[in-house]
Amino acid sequence: MCGIVGYIGDKQAIPFLLDGMSKLEYRGYDSAGVAVYNKGKICIEKCVGRLEALKQKLKGNMPEGTMGIGHTRWATHGRPSDVNSHPHADSSGEFVVVHNGIIENYLGLKQDLQAKGHTFLSETDTEVVAHLMSEYYTGDFEDTVKKVLGMIEGSYSLVFMCAKEPGKLICTKKSNPLVIGLGNGENFIASDIPAIIAKTRRTFIMSDGEIATVTKDNVWVQDINGTPISKKIFEVNWNAEAAEKGGFEHFMLKEIYEQPKAMRDTMLGRLAKTNDAVVFSELNWTPEELKGINKIFIVACGTAYHAGVVGKYYIEQMARISVEVDIASEFRYRLPIIDGNCLCIVISQSGETIDTLEALKEAKRLGARTLAVTNVVGSSIAREADQVVYTYAGPEIAVASTKAYTTQLLIMLLLSMYIAQLRNTVTVDRLQELIVGIREIPEQIHKMLENVEQIKIFATKYGSSEDAFFLGRSLDYAVALEGALKLKEISYIHAEAYAAGELKHGTLALIVEGVPVIVLATQPDVYEKTISNLQEVKARDAVVIGIGMEGDKKLAQHADHVIYIPKTDKYLAPLEAVLPLQLLAYYAALTRGCDVDKPRNLAKSVTVE
Ligand code: F6R
Repeated sequence: MCGIVGYIGDKQAIPFLLDGMSKLEYRGYDSAGVAVYNKGKICIEKCVGRLEALKQKLKGNMPEGTMGIGHTRWATHGRPSDVNSHPHADSSGEFVVVHNGIIENYLGLKQDLQAKGHTFLSETDTEVVAHLMSEYYTGDFEDTVKKVLGMIEGSYSLVFMCAKEPGKLICTKKSNPLVIGLGNGENFIASDIPAIIAKTRRTFIMSDGEIATVTKDNVWVQDINGTPISKKIFEVNWNAEAAEKGGFEHFMLKEIYEQPKAMRDTMLGRLAKTNDAVVFSELNWTPEELKGINKIFIVACGTAYHAGVVGKYYIEQMARISVEVDIASEFRYRLPIIDGNCLCIVISQSGETIDTLEALKEAKRLGARTLAVTNVVGSSIAREADQVVYTYAGPEIAVASTKAYTTQLLIMLLLSMYIAQLRNTVTVDRLQELIVGIREIPEQIHKMLENVEQIKIFATKYGSSEDAFFLGRSLDYAVALEGALKLKEISYIHAEAYAAGELKHGTLALIVEGVPVIVLATQPDVYEKTISNLQEVKARDAVVIGIGMEGDKKLAQHADHVIYIPKTDKYLAPLEAVLPLQLLAYYAALTRGCDVDKPRNLAKSVTVE
């Protein structure tokens, strides 16, 4: 995820900016840059690569100035490159901006500006904001920022500099974090607290829609209508390590809590305002082209493979195309029957998993059309595939994947709706129903995350078990696979997921008194059958934790314990049902004293076969 820092005071800005940016490195980035105001001009230095590359560039050529902004970029629009790095400026270089987030309507704005004679250097959405500032400059920096905010849609934290009006930085945010640090005769801006705690612990957190004008001695906060807002200052008492984790004990927990935002970012711009269509502006498929596809392969590893299993149900049920899901390391060697009438979708958080990359190459070699679903812009898999759809989960640091998985599920759902829409296999009413439901998901997840006490209790109670089973049918089975993997990889409890109807064909022999069995029962079409399977394990004295939709009294009657997810559509249930499974795994691992973020023998990015 991108990082932002800003400084205004009496000291040289660059040393603080570089130090602050280094404190944000843990978030992951692919390029870095700074902008400093001096004697009527703003000097920008930026480059692709690590912060060290920028430092080398600045060596012996350090721009002077006591007001500046810095940025570490995690590419979203446009691959990692020198020109795509932030800060961005308008053509005159007088308006400079750094940005985290996504400007959803940037393409339309860019075309309007181009028609007015603006030329753009980068592929980014951010550069549009700098050009809007110069196009609509009213003679008043603050007013212009407000005017521009009225034009842009999406999620952002933004810091602006204006050479015409030095002595102030203006910043604002919507759905992206931004904090202000208060010093003596100097003030600081950052996207995250670790960047500033070496300088000050007096901070306040910006809220959505607030605009702060930051001078060296003052910070003035207002809303877009100019109404002043008084902010509550708080003293940060976290140490640097805790600050990196945003006050959470582990990155995994932080990332679990980031899921509402990751979902919001991933759906941004992909749902029609009228709620009746899914939009993938990055895909140029036509109904005719899609007619030529008679089979889809989904290929991935681990958690991403589990997202693929969910995707199979979605695509087959909604778009009515036959789908095979393959583990990437198997796909390559099983002589798959695949040709130009097939679409191969590979899913990979990192975009670097070698098995998935090689499978993608094999599918291409066999003539298939290819599409990558990945979280990392410009990654090897993104470059290799014919087409790419990005998840906007932000960097995932914990080895155990959480927010990447839920955004992958969301993309698989949106893709299946999109294909169904092109193939006319779904009604507009059904699309509308789903889109309205999808929009509610981030808030529903947010609410679930506010109430995790019950899950902590179950994790403590059953954390000493050596085995656990996860059962479900249909989409619940697909989610069960992920629940078992999460528990295994971080708590080292042996866990297995079974299609609930399959248990009696052998594995029921392992169900003995006291074994925890997590039964997912969110799918209405197979609900009664799932309850029967639940009774089979209950009859062997297993301890059953049921996961069902709010109001499901029957599940409560049959299971020992129940965790409810908010009532939602059957296709949306996986996005919510996995939450308790992630948290169960997390708290079970804590109970057992495991190293949650770095489980034994595992690595975040697997680049060996
Ligand atoms: C499990 C996990 C792994 C990855 C797998 C694929 O929590 O993170 O199973 O899902 O190694 O990685 P990517 O998605 O980067 O290709």
